[in-house]
Amino acid sequence: MKDYFGYNGKICVVTGASSGMGKAAAEMLVDLGAKVYALDFNECPVEGIEKFVKMNLSDKESIDAGFEQIPEHIDSFFGIAGVSGIKTDFNTTVTIDLIANTYITEEYLAKRMSNGGAIAYITSTGGNNWEKEGNKKYFLPVIEASGWEGRKAVLEAMNLNVLPGPLGYLFAKCAMNYYVAYVQKDFAAKGIRVNALLPGSTNTGMKDEFQMAAGGEEKLLASAGYAGRLAKPEEMGRPVVFLNSDMASFISGELLVVDFGSIIEENAGLRPSATMEFDAIMSRLKNR
Ligand SMILES: NC(=O)c1ccc[n+]([C@@H]2O[C@H](COP(=O)([O-])OP(=O)(O)OC[C@H]3O[C@@H](n4cnc5c(N)ncnc54)[C@H](O)[C@@H]3O)[C@@H](O)[C@H]2O)c1
Repeated sequence: MKDYFGYNGKICVVTGASSGMGKAAAEMLVDLGAKVYALDFNECPVEGIEKFVKMNLSDKESIDAGFEQIPEHIDSFFGIAGVSGIKTDFNTTVTIDLIANTYITEEYLAKRMSNGGAIAYITSTGGNNWEKEGNKKYFLPVIEASGWEGRKAVLEAMNLNVLPGPLGYLFAKCAMNYYVAYVQKDFAAKGIRVNALLPGSTNTGMKDEFQMAAGGEEKLLASAGYAGRLAKPEEMGRPVVFLNSDMASFISGELLVVDFGSIIEENAGLRPSATMEFDAIMSRLKNR
């Protein structure tokens, strides 16, 4: 049988591989013959992986120590780990969901990947509206700063840490969607594709936190798409594995929304907006 996905023997690095979408992706990659390096701060239960590397994505030293344990050449990177911001403050949320991904991309992937490589982040439909000018003025200064220290310094100087952690989630997911547009050209020059998957509500380790933020199960379901249920983790694992596969060899710079028809209706004005605009939230807070 032909290996259409092209993962056989490939070095695949997956953050967040211990739970939810990352675990689902890691399981599929093992089945497809990939050598999977699982990065997470919790032990990874996936059988058949090459190596589990304990890593705390809020800590630069931990990331650096982790990448020392990974082969020099990386074929495929899946930036899936993240936090909702319910249990972490604004700046920590942005550090894990945004700054860690940008740091790994620039410090390690740019140096260790080559022609034919592929990068896919999991961001969120919560980062819908990322392209609106009003939102950009908040996250652009962080993206445009350089390196871990530069981005952390700009973030801290913005004094947003007084805001709740879930707003840090929106900030980071908007910024990550923008980041795909920002870096894809440079990676394309090396033959490496860069994409993101934007999931709708999914039944993972994060579900209870999103449910609490939404104000209950019914409200969470009401903000989801038309499947009448939350997605299963593997329903996000499969499309992200597709994005980094040979099946998607001409797909780069794509933000793939996987939400069963929610965002498209919001964006068309056919359904009330469940995704918030960061700019609008900030204006409301200032006018209080
Ligand atoms: N579940 C949803 O409804 C939903 C919707 C949109 C986007 N997302 C995004 O999907 C991605 C995957 O999350 P999930 O839903 O599978 O949740 P999950 O909680 O099941 O998995 C997240 C994983 O990230 C790891 N992680 C968190 N913080 C870390 C840190 N500091 N260092 C190392 N590892 C860390 C966790 O240990 C866990 O294994 C996240 O980026 C999340 O923001 C989730």
